[in-house]
Amino acid sequence: MTLTGRHVSYWIDSTLPSTYPALSQDVTVDVAVVGAGLAGVMTAKLLKRAGKTVALIEADRIGRGTSGHTTAKVSALHQLIYADLIDEHGDEKARLYGESNRAAIARLADLIAAENIDCDLERKANYTFATDEAGLAKVQAEVTATQTLGLPTSFVESVDLPFPVAGAIMMPDEAQFHPRKFMLAIAATLPGDGSHVFEQTRVKTVEDEGPCRVITHNGSTVIAQDVVITTNLPILDIGLYFAKTYPQRSYLVAGPIEASRAPQGMYIGVGEGYRSIRTTPTNDGGLLLLVGGEGHKVGTDDATDERFQRLESYLHSTFGVEPAYRWSSQDMYSFDKLPYIGTLTPAHHHTYVATGFSLWGMAKSVMAGMMLSDRILGIENPWADLYEATRPTPFVTATSIQQNLEVGIRWVGDRFKGLFDSADSVKPGEGKLITHKGSKIAAYRDDSGELHTVSAVCPHLGCIVAWNEAETSWDCPCHGSRFTCEGKILHGPAVKPLEQKSCD
Ligand SMILES: Cc1cc2nc3c(=O)[nH]c(=O)nc-3n(C[C@H](O)[C@H](O)[C@H](O)COP(=O)(O)OP(=O)(O)OC[C@H]3O[C@@H](n4cnc5c(N)ncnc54)[C@H](O)[C@@H]3O)c2cc1C
Ligand code: FES
Repeated sequence: MTLTGRHVSYWIDSTLPSTYPALSQDVTVDVAVVGAGLAGVMTAKLLKRAGKTVALIEADRIGRGTSGHTTAKVSALHQLIYADLIDEHGDEKARLYGESNRAAIARLADLIAAENIDCDLERKANYTFATDEAGLAKVQAEVTATQTLGLPTSFVESVDLPFPVAGAIMMPDEAQFHPRKFMLAIAATLPGDGSHVFEQTRVKTVEDEGPCRVITHNGSTVIAQDVVITTNLPILDIGLYFAKTYPQRSYLVAGPIEASRAPQGMYIGVGEGYRSIRTTPTNDGGLLLLVGGEGHKVGTDDATDERFQRLESYLHSTFGVEPAYRWSSQDMYSFDKLPYIGTLTPAHHHTYVATGFSLWGMAKSVMAGMMLSDRILGIENPWADLYEATRPTPFVTATSIQQNLEVGIRWVGDRFKGLFDSADSVKPGEGKLITHKGSKIAAYRDDSGELHTVSAVCPHLGCIVAWNEAETSWDCPCHGSRFTCEGKILHGPAVKPLEQKSCD
């Protein structure tokens, strides 16, 4: 089956490119925010509103990372989570999780109203549905858990999807929006009065505290009292966040649907092969249906085209919708299901991180902005302990042991891949690991027959990258760095490109 949707995120395709300058000389601000996804944009905005001068520093362009490739349901109902949270963390922490996510949705809606931002915000009911008995038991357990915590959920026997369900949990008054319209509108309010937005400025590292020095690849430095790292996975390895999370990739397709046939709420299924479903209004007055799913750990599947194919088939067979868009992205899963929001390490007092949103980072990014701005402003925050980034427990969960073991196995095992393959064996359109003069090379031959060769060793911590067919990229299975066939960084935590290698 040929893929029919255009390979671009609808959120990016439907917004104008941003054109903020790159950093070209040293600047001094109160707070530097590194990474302009939703977490970075929100943090910078709330700090500027509170009177701080900020510099928002982005390696690429505003909102083109995970936040520009999301489904953008802003929710406190995260598929199934509350029954697990109660089991693993107890009632009080589970209650705070619900409270903080709901407060973040309200804060986002308030900000959009106060700043009069046109970003297609809609308040909607959100459903997690089951289609079989096993799923139904889980949904019912989630209803019980959420109601114990005082959350306003209810059990419903049917939903307005074009197939029967066994039952669903419904949370009313959640939200969905156009994330890039929102991020661009907020970014536009930042520059001036000592604050800045810099694009195409990759941060290499952050040195010192009091003040902090944000060192960029452009050769210039931002000097700041406080630094917030919102690069999805922090680029600073010292906090070991790469070992407290794992990168999960997920896929979306979208196509136009008639309003009369469109489902009214936001939906996600449970179990293997679950689908995430929502609509969004388009700029020309139409409606687009988004369907997501097919998640897997980054760098562990090179036949990624098949995942898009399954989603496009589903869109067509279930809704009769022709795919117009397809895109994919990734997010960091936290081992204990809670994000990490706080100081980089216990020894840091002015360097902060927000990560581990576990594919539910819309409300959590807003929450990160609220919490980190409070922290920098010296305001007590009721959720600070729950999400404390330096909490020790995540290192000893079953998932963390398994994932970190897998990283170790790949670090060693992947070095034997392509041991006997040479450049001649790479066919047009194919990406392959080969060995040349003892070096592990990532080789891609484009359709015109030209060979593109770079080192296969990830510059982050030395794992071997893997081919991603659908995105024609080299993806690192260890902590999720991604690179173009020419070696350029597509996704961190790497701050250096893949080294150029020739096969001559
Ligand atoms: C397919 C998919 C669907 C999802 N759907 C939902 C959903 O419906 N609801 C929900 O709540 N969540 C959802 N999520 C999760 C949510 O989108 C993410 O949790 C959230 O967008 C993460 O935001 P962020 O700001 O941490 O990261 P990003 O948006 O990735 O922002 C990080 C930024 O940092 C920049 N950066 C990286 N390195 C550097 C550097 N060295 N110097 C400067 N800048 C740098 C990047 O270029 C990027 O712009 C989904 C995720 C995926 C992948
Ligand atoms: S992303 Fe960490 S080794 Fe590649």
